[in-house]
Amino acid sequence: MSATVKDMSATVKDAYRVMLLPGDGVGPEIVAAACRVLDEVAVRGGFAIEYERGLLGGCAIDAVGTPMEEDLADRCQACDAVFLGAVGGPRWDTTDPAKPRPEQSLLGIRKALALFANLRPVKSFAALAHNSTLRPDVIEGVDIMVVRELTGGLYFGKRERTADAAYDTMYYERGEIERIVDCAFRLARGRRREVTSVDKANVLESSRLWREVTEQVAQRYDDVSLRHLLVDNAAMQLVRDPRQFDVLVTENMFGDILSDEAAMLTGSIGMLPSASVGGEGVSLYEPIHGSAPDIAGRGVVNPCATILSAALMLDLSFGRREAARAVERAVEAALDHGARTADIAAADETSLTTEEMTDRVIAALPPAIAGTRRSHADHAG
Ligand code: IPM
Ligand code: MG
Repeated sequence: MSATVKDMSATVKDAYRVMLLPGDGVGPEIVAAACRVLDEVAVRGGFAIEYERGLLGGCAIDAVGTPMEEDLADRCQACDAVFLGAVGGPRWDTTDPAKPRPEQSLLGIRKALALFANLRPVKSFAALAHNSTLRPDVIEGVDIMVVRELTGGLYFGKRERTADAAYDTMYYERGEIERIVDCAFRLARGRRREVTSVDKANVLESSRLWREVTEQVAQRYDDVSLRHLLVDNAAMQLVRDPRQFDVLVTENMFGDILSDEAAMLTGSIGMLPSASVGGEGVSLYEPIHGSAPDIAGRGVVNPCATILSAALMLDLSFGRREAARAVERAVEAALDHGARTADIAAADETSLTTEEMTDRVIAALPPAIAGTRRSHADHAG
């Protein structure tokens, strides 16, 4: 088992191939919005993006009877990146263990592509400080990187169900803990150099192993500080004083729960992007929010989390840091100029449609985006 996440600096190319997995609910709408931004960025940055499409989630159950197309993982591996909308919806909800569920496909693709590290950057937007349910002075300046283990723990452990009983297992091996914690420390080096490891070591055996391995990894990084926090306390600290966190690393289920909580620090879960990366091979980008069936098809979903996921893809998989920053700044500028979808609009603010919000982001992009590869001579010519 490889001990580290791959070097997160991709090779710059002239053309990239992206596998689109729009999924269900609002998935197709947000993926379409992000592609419009990506296409603009490609033109302005002088590179090309080709798209391929795959079926994942409820739409795959409807079309082929299983939540994930058979050869999907291989087709994903042949691309430079995978870009996912969201999966699931009440249409496919069931408690019958024999029936397929859309969520299985999400776990399936993460596992098949060995995406063990889920990076969820949580940054508060100045323009939205007053829209959160938390006080502006609490959330201002928040900048957290949540590093969630993604292919182990309760999500993948042994489980069983009889008519009247059921269990799931939180199983972790040393190597699985080591590689995710190592990833957190490496990320911390590019940030404030503070790692908080979240566990439940006062109760769970798997957490005691987690803590032991984390201590060992920390010894390789004497320039980065480490502290351990119990998960219940971490949940409380996140809303009490979120600025105390730099990099927060934790196991799969704790990370799932804490990252939804952390999303509210930005004002809306509609703002949070994520990148899932592994030891080698292709990475996957998706918003952290779900398929929002209640608003699907109405053209009102907030596209920002998905557009910001595209920025992560430009940076981590395309090696186009300038383009990534341009997208992030454009989202921020659109917000600064008052652009709001319904989820982030205050009572006295007009809310834009998905399409209008996307237009506002595109309008805020710079006319030309410097490529990492081109020299000044190229530009002059
Ligand atoms: C997420 C989602 C998924 C998860 C669900 C849809 C299976 O909540 O990406 O956070 O629990 O990982
Ligand atoms: Mg979740």
